[in-house]
Amino acid sequence: MLALGFIAFFGSLMALENCGKDLSKLPAQTVDWYDENASRFISTNDHSDHSADYFHALSFVQAPSPRILDVGCAQGRDIEGFLKLEVGEVLGIEPSRPLAEFAASRTGALILQKTFEEIEVGKDLQPESFDLIWAMASFLHIPADRQVSALEKASELLRVGGIFFASYKVGEGERIETRGEHRLLYFDVSEVEFRRLIERVPQLRIESLDIQNDPSRPGLQWLRAVLRRVK
Ligand SMILES: C[S@@+](CC[C@H](N)C(=O)[O-])C[C@H]1O[C@@H](n2cnc3c(N)ncnc32)[C@H](O)[C@@H]1O
Repeated sequence: MLALGFIAFFGSLMALENCGKDLSKLPAQTVDWYDENASRFISTNDHSDHSADYFHALSFVQAPSPRILDVGCAQGRDIEGFLKLEVGEVLGIEPSRPLAEFAASRTGALILQKTFEEIEVGKDLQPESFDLIWAMASFLHIPADRQVSALEKASELLRVGGIFFASYKVGEGERIETRGEHRLLYFDVSEVEFRRLIERVPQLRIESLDIQNDPSRPGLQWLRAVLRRVK
């Protein structure tokens, strides 16, 4: 009985220790979830129509035939949507292999299979080479302490005057969502916190910020941001 008690005690200590280690691996675990649930994700995520968001973002873009980068493009729904609008070239970044492969075969676009944090400016993508960076519900998987550097990188990739579009879930900072065996990292923001975040990236100026209710998920709100590279 005593021995069992010791095993249970040390077992729980090990679980705590592993829990701490797991936290540092959460971005990778997040992508694992997309890898393992790619088919289901595609079938549920592909039907939503975001053309109003495309037109909203494009209304701020000055280039007549904009070159667009879709960050976290998943299965390529929005790449296809933009190509139908006869914009210029569209490229994607998608860390999940099955989603990246699906997007590439669906759209014919070049898809870099990496997280945005892994992208090396000057090697993977050239600086000042995009008119619009589209990050719909993808920067929300970047940890809080990497948001500023990710926004700086986005601004480096944009031509001066270019537009960065992003949407985040409205909430309060980093949180972990458990789905089955997976733990996904989310970074949620309030409007006030988002404005504070952007103050730390003077290259970017807020052009438009609004909060919308998710029509299919009661209680969920989205912060939709349009930022311009000003220097
Ligand atoms: C909620 S889905 C949104 C997909 C798509 N943009 C949309 O609006 O339907 C998040 C996407 O971001 C990708 N992702 C996760 N972490 C990322 C990161 N660090 N950098 C870029 N993309 C990431 C996921 O693999 C997934 O495809």
